Amino acid sequence: MKKILVIGSGGREHALVWKLSQSPKVGEIFVVNGNGGSCTLATNVSINIDKINDLVDFAKENEIAITIVGPDNSLADGIVDEFQKNGLKIFGPSKYVTQIESSKSFAKKMMIDENIPTARFKIFSDYQKALNYVLEQGAPIVIKVSGLAFGKGVYICKTIQEAEIALKETMLDRKHGDAGNEVIVEEFLEGQEVSVHAFSDGITTMLFPPVQDHKTIFAGNQGPNTGGMGTVSMSLSPEMMIEIKKQVIDPIINAFQKNGKPFIGVLYPGLIITAEGIKALEFNARLGDPETQSYMRLLKTDLIDIVEACIEGRLSKIEIEWNTTPCVCVVVSSGGYPGEYKTGFPIYGIDQAEKIPEVVIFHAGTSFENGKLMTSGGRVLGVTAKGETIEIALKRAYKAISLIKFEGMYFREDIGRALQQ
Ligand code: AMP
Ligand code: GLY
Repeated sequence: MKKILVIGSGGREHALVWKLSQSPKVGEIFVVNGNGGSCTLATNVSINIDKINDLVDFAKENEIAITIVGPDNSLADGIVDEFQKNGLKIFGPSKYVTQIESSKSFAKKMMIDENIPTARFKIFSDYQKALNYVLEQGAPIVIKVSGLAFGKGVYICKTIQEAEIALKETMLDRKHGDAGNEVIVEEFLEGQEVSVHAFSDGITTMLFPPVQDHKTIFAGNQGPNTGGMGTVSMSLSPEMMIEIKKQVIDPIINAFQKNGKPFIGVLYPGLIITAEGIKALEFNARLGDPETQSYMRLLKTDLIDIVEACIEGRLSKIEIEWNTTPCVCVVVSSGGYPGEYKTGFPIYGIDQAEKIPEVVIFHAGTSFENGKLMTSGGRVLGVTAKGETIEIALKRAYKAISLIKFEGMYFREDIGRALQQ
């Protein structure tokens, strides 16, 4: 039985722990820093996630067989390189290849070099030049900071005024700090958005089923972007999935491989299917949150077998099986998120909600205080449900949510609606 360490304390990590705990090959699971859900299946350990050396020490002292990394920051900080230097097995991409996510300008340059279809763009580090370009292009237009910004560094500007404010905020006021040293001004694209994930061992890639994220805080794509407020299964034709692999995923994996810097982990491009075809919006070098919550409900294969096959470069030798039942995840958040919000409120009704058939609730910002489950973050819960149809799955998820209560509780009521129209 293998001891596993999971890095991260969100809903994604609770879902990973939930899946790992079902494996006959997995023994004790530790989670840094964990939440009120993961502690029921694993041991939450309190270590500063930024202190990679402390994490290395913990893995050594506790004879961890494999470490699985959730958050982008840890990957961008080089956790994988450091663990490997210490002879520890870890699942995730190296610091170098993680730049595909941590630097949007790196990603854009790579997309151009590898002929990957993407929105037209220019990169600026000078405010006046960026503004002139925006005025020349007109609205709608998209402004993105190059660095990591917790999913909040993208501005979809419907008017020139909005674009001017976005440039001022990012370049002059430096709202996102160094992440805004370079800013990308990009063509606004219209079409169906889709998230595709792929496992990669550096050479072989295997795609997950497609899902759709809901990024904005309010219904109907209104309001600021969040980390994600819900996901639903999508049906894309097998031909489209082959095109996505061929046009977007494999060119990145092959380019890294050719450079002698293989991408091992999960590559997750954000895509938009426009009238002109597939366009890549961005790349993530990790599992999505809340996509993972849906994915872990659907993955039939033992996750640890896949992780080991990726690390050992033998992904082509295994089969990955997915349940084809539609699955949804509706995120329940603290009122005010993604802006300021209060925490420390008791959460009621989860036990009742989990009695609804095919419902599993993953915790994100929760913790136990004096034996009571309390809110402790922006995104609090991910309520997942499966059903014979998306409609049935959504009904179950929303029924479960109607049984949950905490002060200031918020969720989007339109998850999956756009797909049903
Ligand atoms: P990103 O972090 O680059 O995926 O952007 C976050 C979200 O902003 C995406 O999921 C899209 O909804 C939206 N977005 C980003 N770039 C564009 C674009 N060029 N055109 C339209 N929407 C975009
Ligand atoms: N759900 C979007 C993300 O994880 O980036």
